[in-house]
Amino acid sequence: RGLVGRRGLLAAGGALGALGALSAAAPAMAWTWQPSGSVVGTGEGADPRWVWDEVADPLVGSLLDSGAVPRVNELLREWTTNGQDLPKGLPTELRDFIEEARRKPDWADPRKLDLAYRFNEKRGLYLGVLYGMASGMMSTVIPKEARAVYHSYGGANMKDRITKTAKLGYDIGNPNAYADDGSMIVTCVKTRLTHAGVRNLLPKSAQWSDVAPEDIPISQADMMVTWHSLATTVNRKMVEWNVPIPPEESEAYLHSWQLCAHMLGIADEYIPASWEQANLQADQVLTPILAPTAEGVNLADILMDFGKEIDGSILSRPVIGALTRFMLGDQVARWLMIPDEPIWDPLLNTLWGPFIAVREGLLQNFPGSQQAYWTFDEVLRQAVLLFLSRGDYPISISIPTGNRPG
Ligand code: HEM
Repeated sequence: RGLVGRRGLLAAGGALGALGALSAAAPAMAWTWQPSGSVVGTGEGADPRWVWDEVADPLVGSLLDSGAVPRVNELLREWTTNGQDLPKGLPTELRDFIEEARRKPDWADPRKLDLAYRFNEKRGLYLGVLYGMASGMMSTVIPKEARAVYHSYGGANMKDRITKTAKLGYDIGNPNAYADDGSMIVTCVKTRLTHAGVRNLLPKSAQWSDVAPEDIPISQADMMVTWHSLATTVNRKMVEWNVPIPPEESEAYLHSWQLCAHMLGIADEYIPASWEQANLQADQVLTPILAPTAEGVNLADILMDFGKEIDGSILSRPVIGALTRFMLGDQVARWLMIPDEPIWDPLLNTLWGPFIAVREGLLQNFPGSQQAYWTFDEVLRQAVLLFLSRGDYPISISIPTGNRPG
């Protein structure tokens, strides 16, 4: 059974000799992080590796069983803004669930959310390259995520999938993301339903069951791992690049992601209260579990070709590869079989820092050529186009009804 999938992977990735190395078991994570560090400061402390979504999972399971999902998806297409009335005709239990799930927690702070928007606006140019290359590439070395994504329905069409996931990056940076006329809550609640669908469906995939160490995918711990690959990683990179960020803007950006976690159905007791707590948690749960998988190598391979979307794009495979190595390090690059780039690697290592410093007005003269400066600027600009623009067609996240075909 698994063989067909593996053979497909080999053909696609050209990774013949490496498969042995790739099938090495992924290291397990321990969860010792305390709820005292969470947004609510308290909790029962249940190990989130064994917590999923006890409300959405059975609900979506019964919708799948009764064959209601296609109709539900069709109806939910009409639901696009946070404050909008839900479409008529939804099954009552689903309607009740969404009404509950769309409510913001008491700790949501509109003032911080406004400030988060300003941060997104000011820093949008960095966010494209960071969400796309740092977070996106990192997701391919998170073994459980790579396998879940690869073997789920959407795994067969990565371009579409990435477009949808990118919509989250776009929505979270929107002026009224969480306000009645925004759409972040819609995106999150629909994603929560999609994840619940995946938890019901993936265990039925022989291909997934053959390779995944867990019985049910997307635990609360897994979701926090992915959260760190997005929020914590982006924040860490900006700090590392010495981008000057006022503390209240940094806190506001964190807040927009804390709220995202809550709306995705992550329990408050697992959501870090500060970047300090986020870093602590990420050191425990993200860094140690990063590892290559055949699925992840394949997904990364597809991601590397994304620049082809833009005519004459500067974001060619070699450039995306070099950016990945620069941001995620040699080990990750090796895992993903990204070759050395004799021109780009040293260019990024020596000039990216000064480039940011000049852009931020912290340095007068760029030590490299004008050509290098222009090239870096173009990288930023095209990454925004590629990873953070809404595109010209509406994207509707829908609950899957099956796994990866074939
Ligand atoms: C779907 C975001 C965590 C696996 C989605 C979608 C979004 C999203 C926006 C909808 C995209 C689509 O319909 O194609 C997030 C965020 C997460 C998170 C923001 C955490 C903060 C995870 C984790 C896993 C996972 C931890 C697996 C371990 C999947 C899968 C799909 C999905 C398999 C469905 C793909 C499909 O069949 O279409 N996620 N996700 N996600 N996510 Fe997540």
